Amino acid sequence: MKSKFDLTSVQKLTIQERAELVSGKNFWFTAENKDQQIPKLMMTDGPSGLRKQASSADALGLNQSVEAICFPSAALTASSFNVALLYNLGKKLGTAARAEDVDVLLGPGVNIKRSPLAGRNFEYFSEDPYLAGELGSAYVKGVQQEGVGVSVKHFAANNRENQRFTSSSNIDERALREIYLTAFEKIVKQAQPATLMCSYNAINGVLNSQNYRLLTQILRNEWGFEGLVMSDWGAVADNIAALRAGLDLEMPGNGDYSVQEIIKAVHTGELEEAQLNTSALRVLEMVEKFHINAKASDNYDKDDQHAFAKKAAEDGMVLLKNDHAVLPLKPTDKIAIIGALAQTPRYQGGGSSHVNAYKLVSPLKAAQNSANHISFAQGYALDSEKPDQMLASEAVSLAKSNDKVVFFAGVPEQFESEGFDKQSMDLPDNQIQLIHEVAESNPNLIVVLQNGSAVSMPWQGDTQAILETYLAGEAVGEATWAILTGATNPSGKLAETFPERIEDTPAFGTFNASPDEENYYEGIYVGYRYYDVKKQEVNYPFGFGLSYTTFKYDDLKVSVKDSAVNVTVKVTNTGDVYGKETVQVYVQNLASTVETPIQELKAFRKVDLQAGESQTLTMTLDRRSFAWYDAHTANWRVDNGEYRIKAASSSRDKGLSEIINVDFGSEVKTEISDNTYLSEIINRADLQEALKQTGLQKMLNSIVSGSNSELMANMPLRAIIMLGASIDQMYTFLKLANE
Ligand code: BGC
Repeated sequence: MKSKFDLTSVQKLTIQERAELVSGKNFWFTAENKDQQIPKLMMTDGPSGLRKQASSADALGLNQSVEAICFPSAALTASSFNVALLYNLGKKLGTAARAEDVDVLLGPGVNIKRSPLAGRNFEYFSEDPYLAGELGSAYVKGVQQEGVGVSVKHFAANNRENQRFTSSSNIDERALREIYLTAFEKIVKQAQPATLMCSYNAINGVLNSQNYRLLTQILRNEWGFEGLVMSDWGAVADNIAALRAGLDLEMPGNGDYSVQEIIKAVHTGELEEAQLNTSALRVLEMVEKFHINAKASDNYDKDDQHAFAKKAAEDGMVLLKNDHAVLPLKPTDKIAIIGALAQTPRYQGGGSSHVNAYKLVSPLKAAQNSANHISFAQGYALDSEKPDQMLASEAVSLAKSNDKVVFFAGVPEQFESEGFDKQSMDLPDNQIQLIHEVAESNPNLIVVLQNGSAVSMPWQGDTQAILETYLAGEAVGEATWAILTGATNPSGKLAETFPERIEDTPAFGTFNASPDEENYYEGIYVGYRYYDVKKQEVNYPFGFGLSYTTFKYDDLKVSVKDSAVNVTVKVTNTGDVYGKETVQVYVQNLASTVETPIQELKAFRKVDLQAGESQTLTMTLDRRSFAWYDAHTANWRVDNGEYRIKAASSSRDKGLSEIINVDFGSEVKTEISDNTYLSEIINRADLQEALKQTGLQKMLNSIVSGSNSELMANMPLRAIIMLGASIDQMYTFLKLANE
């Protein structure tokens, strides 16, 4: 639909009216202009449920919000590897937003998990940009399908919480493009989100809210983004510099102060009126498109959404260990449930994503509603790390008198939240000690984890089974119990690596090392890309997750047609129960002359299979699946040659693989300079004519075919002067070569 607004209609507004539009009215609204019939637009957090504040407003989840369904946080939904689930989650959120008069939803968060210590990992999808981009796109499409806009956050490279308003993420260009911007780029191109939320931090010294290169050159000129850029709450330090850089809407706005600053800047020429007009028009277009004039209904089916929250949680929970098939629990098992988190679960993150849950069902409650014989001991206190002797001995004696122990462990909210980073990957001491004591009195120990990010497990040898449930939302109890009892077969796979120790992680030693600068020295080697290249043992690899059934992969076929690669593989459920498997396709570049990761996830598909059933899946890899970012030429480049394509059940599973040869046709031409090596010049077919014309061809051929050929080829073009060529010849060649 064509907008009724254009630049002419914007110019009819006074400068003050335009300035009001680009400066948020207050915490959750854009400015209303009754004279011009411009309604205010309401936005609300958050990614895993509505946080609509009716009265007192804040950005940290401190004040109460309306009752809403608390869905699992992104760490868990990502582990579902289920694009359809994320789309449906988006639709549920969109429905709730419409019913509550919310026009724009502040989410999803798609930043990369760079360190397990980052406080907000629970709110982000993955360490892998492809996965984050695919899941984020599905979520955005779902919400916007319901007529509600989204704000994809936090753009960009906001990978730590400490000093998040000021710290500079210092990243090389290749890592920025391949790791930190890819998910945003994918979502912009695949799902056209209404808005992007610009993050607090700086990149390479330039505050994101004033970063013209990020907000205009990359986002709009390169990716073609047509929506609006708003600031994270309080991210604007200088609203004039922000508007000039391409930030359209300051949130929550500094009231009249911001407006007067803009008016003054237009009068002094510090801000071009045209720039103000462009941003004001984007606000008007967003209001026109997403302001809900006629809402669907005041009510939405909260019980239906609760049931969906349960389904979503079940689809993501990851069974990490299950020795001697101790799980699923049998109806006849006498079970001791141990741990305060069973009764008072940690089911959502702290901060702006905090939801006033509609119907929390704790794991203990869900267990007590089942047929099993259940008894419970608190075991440890949640508000302290110190062991409590009385609670501990009660738990140990309960463990002795039961068949199996289900121990609820995790990271309490005081250690992990938006606004600050974690200090450690460990569980609190009191929990670790108790796991050990309980295991000594009953070896049938199953640990259920509630946490926002990867934890270390020095205690895992004490256990028979481990179930990772992350922050599972308000249906945490029902979902956990369904998985433990086998009513639902687990099918989640880790969207992040679980390293053994913090010392093993790529950003160890640099993460939070300085208050002002965060140096991304590991470059593109984030998550499994790092552990693979380092041949580092990990506790549980990216993409890993068990099931109560088994799957077999056969008949891998990889075919290349017009530089698109089709991967076909047959998957069979070889066990005796229904289950779901996520087939992952990894690409290894064997052709490149630059360093590339050992493997990268480039496609995945989740399938449901009855016992004994098979399905043949086909996934297509496009050109970008093979590309790496060349900072020198500012291009995504591909190499002609060999690639290994692997279809497997996790990043460390051998799976099935095949080596193929792909010819992408003529390469993107790279600029030739006097520093380009002779080996490259000689091998490039397109340069032969220029070499011939300048009389250099013969000379180079004889140089590199002589006895010192390798040494000679390893010289830059400028060295040919020493070998007898003239400066003129070299410059004429450069001119012809780059034409
Ligand atoms: C958070 C955003 C959130 C905003 C509004 C900020 O502190 O970083 O994610 O959307 O507050 O609550």
